[in-house]
Amino acid sequence: MDVAASEETVSDYLLAHSTAQDDVLARLAEETRRSFPDAAGMQITADEGGLLTMLVRLTGARNAVEVGTFTGYSSICIARGLADGGRLLACDVSGEWTSVAERYWAEAGVADRIDLRLAPAAETLAALPAEPSVDFAFVDADKETYPTYYEELVQRLRPGGLLLLDNVLLGGRVFDDGEHDARVDAMREVNDRIVADDRVDVVMLPLRDGVTVARRR
Ligand SMILES: C[S@@+](CC[C@H](N)C(=O)[O-])C[C@H]1O[C@@H](n2cnc3c(N)ncnc32)[C@H](O)[C@@H]1O
Repeated sequence: MDVAASEETVSDYLLAHSTAQDDVLARLAEETRRSFPDAAGMQITADEGGLLTMLVRLTGARNAVEVGTFTGYSSICIARGLADGGRLLACDVSGEWTSVAERYWAEAGVADRIDLRLAPAAETLAALPAEPSVDFAFVDADKETYPTYYEELVQRLRPGGLLLLDNVLLGGRVFDDGEHDARVDAMREVNDRIVADDRVDVVMLPLRDGVTVARRR
């Protein structure tokens, strides 16, 4: 079987049988491709977005954190799932990319529940209250810093809270013994650390580039 063709076929089938992205997200994806063609591949896909919204809803989350906002796709998906009065802290370092996000937050009607923090996310997370108060967190930023993001967030997760990490397979580089650089080494380290961490239950999903879902015990 042709693996590449098979992946495309599976992807098309999955998308065709999952709730479709709405017009706001479709336009955001289109503008991102047009305005930032070299970076647009960083955006999460519609099926990942659907998973985020569903998990946020299932957990009844009110206090969410996102590390890596870019042009806003995942933040809209998270914010839409929040319980009444819920808030999302969106962390990024790019004013240019997040200015697009701010426009689409307004269009999606979620601007009033998102706080954007433009600073290195490790600093933003370290400054959060130490006690467990986070119901839902999504990490999708610089891969070298994933071990730090994991530690800063897992200690602040409420029991039952979820922490998701995107791109945990790094295109398959994590299981290629010949691959070594800061990103791959950090991703292997965090993947190994999470499965050995008795504070969480964890499942690694083969969705797109791999999504880890860790639930605080
Ligand atoms: C993969 S993109 C995020 C995609 C986004 N989740 C979406 O759905 O479109 C990674 C983002 O992380 C941001 N980033 C990189 N290093 C960062 C850091 N040290 N602190 C905070 N954000 C960072 C980048 O500016 C970029 O917007």
